[in-house]
Amino acid sequence: MHTTVGIIGAGPAGLLLARLLHQAGIDSVVLEARDREYAEQRQRAGILEQTTVDALRMAGAGERMDREGIVHHGIELRFDGRSHRVDFPSLADGRGVMVYAQTEMVKDLIALQLAEGGPLFFEAEVRQVGPGDGGQVAVHYRHDGQERILTCDWAVGCDGFHGVTKNAIPEGVLRDYERTYPYSWLGILADAPPVYDELIYAHSERGFALASMRSATVSRLYLQVPNGTDPADWTDEQIWDELDRRFATHADPSWRLTRGPITAKSVLPMRSHVTEPMRHGRILLAGDAAHIVPPTGAKGLNLAAADVIVLAKAFAHLQRTGSTELLDTYSETCLERIWRAEHFSYFMTTTLHSAPDQSPFDTRLQLSQLARIASSPHAAAELAQNYVGVPMEGLRGGGDLGPEL
Ligand code: FAD
Ligand code: PHB
Repeated sequence: MHTTVGIIGAGPAGLLLARLLHQAGIDSVVLEARDREYAEQRQRAGILEQTTVDALRMAGAGERMDREGIVHHGIELRFDGRSHRVDFPSLADGRGVMVYAQTEMVKDLIALQLAEGGPLFFEAEVRQVGPGDGGQVAVHYRHDGQERILTCDWAVGCDGFHGVTKNAIPEGVLRDYERTYPYSWLGILADAPPVYDELIYAHSERGFALASMRSATVSRLYLQVPNGTDPADWTDEQIWDELDRRFATHADPSWRLTRGPITAKSVLPMRSHVTEPMRHGRILLAGDAAHIVPPTGAKGLNLAAADVIVLAKAFAHLQRTGSTELLDTYSETCLERIWRAEHFSYFMTTTLHSAPDQSPFDTRLQLSQLARIASSPHAAAELAQNYVGVPMEGLRGGGDLGPEL
């Protein structure tokens, strides 16, 4: 089998790339290691930046999102027993974010790809990506119990943090930058109405907590827990009690979350990681395959979308003009946005969590920073603009990706 662009991984990055290439008349094949059900059910992100929303509409995958997604114009910060709302439109040029689960976005993209896109194979695990004949790329994979080879003009590794594509970049060329954190998140999904109209990010001396949502009847809630925590260590009642304690304010100390059945419970580690460069010859990396952020800034999925928008434009430019100039600058173009998001995610994480060795001095510094955000429009604007995301040229207004697409 041969294709122009071989895509490894059917997460948000791989699926959105396949759609954008299809719209530009460029053929691709997507290989996904897991089955369809697994890809559609994996609980992850929930917040889409304007750029991601616009790209989904561009890809023809915005219809259900526009119907069921919930637009948010701010977040609430809770610290020192008080609440402060950060208003996005007034601080970030009228922009906001959309609450629409990654699971739903993936379902929409898979349905479209299967209905009208190029081939998408599930249970097709890529073993190796490397040079093929005549300057092409050979993607070795296993499907239906057989070893197979997909040859392509270009291969894009959208295979997440544990993917194999990055192994094709030789040692000595590849640079890794990493930071781990001394805490994890215990995440739950509950059949309970959201606590509040917007997300609440809470700093407390007992640790961080986040209240998010999936719909008017389903809550997504997170608690900071020590690394190595087993979700089974926490009973449902202990989780609700701890959430109540961490969200409590002086103004309303008896305030309680509305409880409901917990339908999913998992622990996720926190990590920052960047792999550079994101291109080696005809092999490129996009999304979590190249970079990871701790989820406190809600950036991972949005960075994955931003990478593949840049990439789709670059392939469309190559097709239209014969020039690889946008592919040549792909890595550098993306890394600027990626490092900004890395810093913001690190800032949100270290400002809101309590490290196990945290001193009272460190806590006072965190509270001073949060008080500054609450009192200074400049400090609040810095947070708001990073949270809603840097606009991407040619994407505002829903639908125009510029001359290339
Ligand atoms: P992935 O989603 O990891 O997809 C990679 C795909 O490649 C997978 O389907 C995998 O099975 C496949 N694959 C791997 N190896 C192979 C192989 N060898 N062969 C074939 N296929 C392979 N981000 C946000 O923007 N906002 C949020 O609110 C947010 N919240 C989050 C909450 C949680 C709990 C978590 C865990 C993450 C969150 N993120 C958030 C991050 C976001 O989910 C990821 O950044 C996003 O999934 C990245 O998409 P991706 O396509 O690059 O990688
Ligand atoms: C989520 O809804 O899962 C979510 C929202 C915001 C974050 C992280 C996760 O910062």
